[in-house]
Amino acid sequence: MKLKDKVALVTGTSPNIGGGIAEGLAAEGAALVCVDAMAANATDCANYLKSTGAQALAVTCDVTAEAEVAAAVQKACDTFGRIDVLVNNAVVFNKKGVLTMPLEDWRRQIDVILTGAFLFTKHAARSMIDRQVRGSILNIISTAGHQGEPNNIGYSTAKSGLINFTRSAAMELVKHGIRVNSLTPTATDPSESAERAQRWGRAAPDLSAVKPIFEMYRSRIPMQKLPKPSDYGRAAAFIVSTEAEMMTGTDLRIDAGAIARYWPWDPAAS
Ligand SMILES: NC(=O)c1ccc[n+]([C@@H]2O[C@H](COP(=O)([O-])OP(=O)(O)OC[C@H]3O[C@@H](n4cnc5c(N)ncnc54)[C@H](O)[C@@H]3O)[C@@H](O)[C@H]2O)c1
Repeated sequence: MKLKDKVALVTGTSPNIGGGIAEGLAAEGAALVCVDAMAANATDCANYLKSTGAQALAVTCDVTAEAEVAAAVQKACDTFGRIDVLVNNAVVFNKKGVLTMPLEDWRRQIDVILTGAFLFTKHAARSMIDRQVRGSILNIISTAGHQGEPNNIGYSTAKSGLINFTRSAAMELVKHGIRVNSLTPTATDPSESAERAQRWGRAAPDLSAVKPIFEMYRSRIPMQKLPKPSDYGRAAAFIVSTEAEMMTGTDLRIDAGAIARYWPWDPAAS
């Protein structure tokens, strides 16, 4: 067990990627603090983990509200004694372009992705330093943070910013023994999150409308299959564990080759 006796706080624990990462960390022995602005996403994730025998706590919290973030970190420490691992995963999607995105929408998206990661890193890292925990922080990026995606200006910009936030925080916190890395997912096979939602006691989502879009993604990715949240969960468990103790300020890409692809090459044609 890579994370036996460790405490991990994950933000944005929907049945998709946050839930998959929470389950991946719990499978390696971590106690989980499931944080989400939507109460059901925090409680359903924590309740499912508890049903498997793991320790888990649900906290409803808006990652952009500093008092709520400080209270969430305090609650995690009061319950489990400390935080060893923080995963900044919460997001709002809002596909709009530079010509059309209202200022208010831009500010909200940047706020959730960047300010949320800043506030949780600040308060969780302080809690680690106070308790002399040599902790690990993981920021969830996207292939859109490495490339220029049209009509997704707030998301692409914030995710790109999170890559250098990772490096800068890694350099500042290295003297405290705290590692800061990022993990890059890409378009994600939706079947696993549908299955996870059902395991959490929810109705099966109707995937028929999104299936053609994900088939298009699949046909363009070098490995010709899309990663699942559990692929990110296993990679996250590795990079936050002592197995990766010499890694800081780096990005772990679980993208089936998407970023490495030579742009004119068509993987489906070869
Ligand atoms: N889904 C994909 O294909 C994909 C691809 C690449 C990267 N990612 C990244 O993976 C991560 C998770 O994506 P997902 O698809 O699971 O998203 P999702 O929409 O399923 O989950 C996001 C969660 O964040 C929560 N949230 C939103 N605003 C919040 C706030 N202010 N405070 C606290 N919680 C808040 C939501 O309630 C939700 O539970 C994100 O960082 C995303 O950018 C996703």
